Amino acid sequence: MVARALSVVVAVAAAAAVIRTALGASYTVGAPSGSWDLQSNYIQWASNMEFSVGDHLVFNYSRVAHNVLEVSKADYDSCNISRPIATFQTGNDTVQLAAVGSRYFVCGVSSHCAAGMKVAVQVQAADTARQCRFSRRGGRQRVRCADQAPPATASSAAISAGVESLMGATLGSIAVVLMALY
Ligand SMILES: *[C@@H]1O[C@H](CO)[C@@H](O)[C@H](O)[C@H]1NC(C)=O
Ligand SMILES: *[C@@H]1O[C@H](CO)[C@@H](O)[C@H](O)[C@H]1NC(C)=O
Ligand SMILES: *[C@@H]1O[C@H](CO)[C@@H](O)[C@H](O)[C@H]1NC(C)=O
Repeated sequence: MVARALSVVVAVAAAAAVIRTALGASYTVGAPSGSWDLQSNYIQWASNMEFSVGDHLVFNYSRVAHNVLEVSKADYDSCNISRPIATFQTGNDTVQLAAVGSRYFVCGVSSHCAAGMKVAVQVQAADTARQCRFSRRGGRQRVRCADQAPPATASSAAISAGVESLMGATLGSIAVVLMALY
């Protein structure tokens, strides 16, 4: 019984780690009306979004026409592309939003940044929680998760005989959790 309870705790810990790191909402910059281009208004686009730790951005664009440079706020403001923090140029770039804070991206091609091809996002602490139920059937671990309001203290989540756990996490899919557990 103790061993079983322990294995459940390990499984819960593993699942929590996976949910925090591998899952999260995906935001295609400029979508749905545009992408990473010279037409979109990224101030307007970002103002309609709420970004949380664990989410990621996708920059979708023609790699012959554009690229993506992550820059400091000062370089974002002045469109100075001489010292990017990171450079992306595949045309389908995924950028993880792993921490709370502001992130700044510009196109480094020609004067595209000055023409408005720049986006700033404010990343907040993950404020939604998932309630996951763990169960065993025929020796296989199963997990079911549902979104719910944030618990008062996510870290003091009860792990009871029924094996329920509250985990602070953003949106995610159950499939990855299952993969991690099998
Ligand atoms: C990526 O952008 C192209 C146009 O440049 C568009 O046709 C395509 O649907 C976009 N894909 C996604 C996943 O947004
Ligand atoms: C960009 O920043 C670098 C480093 O601070 C500076 O030397 C350069 O003059 C700046 N370029 C422009 C166009 O402001
Ligand atoms: C973009 O990359 C992701 C993985 O990073 C992949 O799942 C997706 O199919 C790619 N989209 C296109 C349009 O290449």
